Amino acid sequence: MLSFQTKIKLNDGYEIPIVGFGTIRVPDEAIIMAIEAGYRLLDTASMYKYNESGTGDAVASGIVKREDLFVCTKLWTTDIRERRTREAFFESLKKLKTDYVDLYLIHWPAEGFIEAYQEMEKLQKEGYIRSLGVSNFRKHHFEELFEKTSVIPVVNEMETNPGFQDLETMEFCRKHNIVLEASAPLGEGRYVNMEELQSYARKYNKSVPQIILRWLLQKDIIVVPKSTKKERIIANADLFDFELSEEEMNYIDSLNRMERSYADPDNFNF
Ligand SMILES: NC(=O)c1ccc[n+]([C@@H]2O[C@H](COP(=O)([O-])OP(=O)(O)OC[C@H]3O[C@@H](n4cnc5c(N)ncnc54)[C@H](OP(=O)(O)O)[C@@H]3O)[C@@H](O)[C@H]2O)c1
Repeated sequence: MLSFQTKIKLNDGYEIPIVGFGTIRVPDEAIIMAIEAGYRLLDTASMYKYNESGTGDAVASGIVKREDLFVCTKLWTTDIRERRTREAFFESLKKLKTDYVDLYLIHWPAEGFIEAYQEMEKLQKEGYIRSLGVSNFRKHHFEELFEKTSVIPVVNEMETNPGFQDLETMEFCRKHNIVLEASAPLGEGRYVNMEELQSYARKYNKSVPQIILRWLLQKDIIVVPKSTKKERIIANADLFDFELSEEEMNYIDSLNRMERSYADPDNFNF
């Protein structure tokens, strides 16, 4: 049975919590609130507006032991293009106030991502990174990566929500034992009042965001919802006292309209 404490085993043997806290555009206090509410996976990135140093303050606060947290950060596109993976990684590590990260991701498949990943493999061997992963990769990015690197990514963090389900990439990742992690699980907020899910919300006495997050969890997809508000931070992890039926799962699957809430990995300009 799923619980807030459930972890998924990664293809390298480490384990990742199934519910994490997304830190984009959140004030530092929200990260502390999330840890106090029981979140252990913190999803941050070096990109502007992501809260890497706030995450570091929360890690250093000692509310919970470092080894009980799962800290994920990401290498930004300009660092990939400028071949400064190693420098960027140590800048992140310093902000995170820790001596290793649990998971380091290529944030977007920018030109140079192969060399970046090769450098990440070295950093992993040196003991600074537990697990290597990627974000916003599609099948052809993986195929290119597999040809030239040796460590299979443990995770692909990619947009997944009722309105956008990239089935081809999801199937490819499952086949290669790469865990899926949904970014923007609520479509950056656009699905929080989704009309089609109101009846399920009433039936289970839950909110639409809770229905969506539960749907993702039942598909073995990790969720990292973000909220700045304490009651929502708590509610977004309160997902374990109900279960969607197969029919309800299929219905939410059917809402896919391939409408992205943010950029396309094959056509981005940052
Ligand atoms: N790898 C990538 O490229 C990438 C891209 C995008 C996102 N991400 C990750 O995914 C995380 C989440 O994505 P996101 O922040 O873009 O969007 P999201 O989690 O899909 O949605 C966040 C929005 O929904 C609102 N919200 C959250 N919980 C709610 C609830 N229970 N009831 C009503 N409204 C609620 C939030 O507002 P309030 O804050 O006002 O509550 C916010 O406006 C990010 O923090 C980041 O870690 C990764």
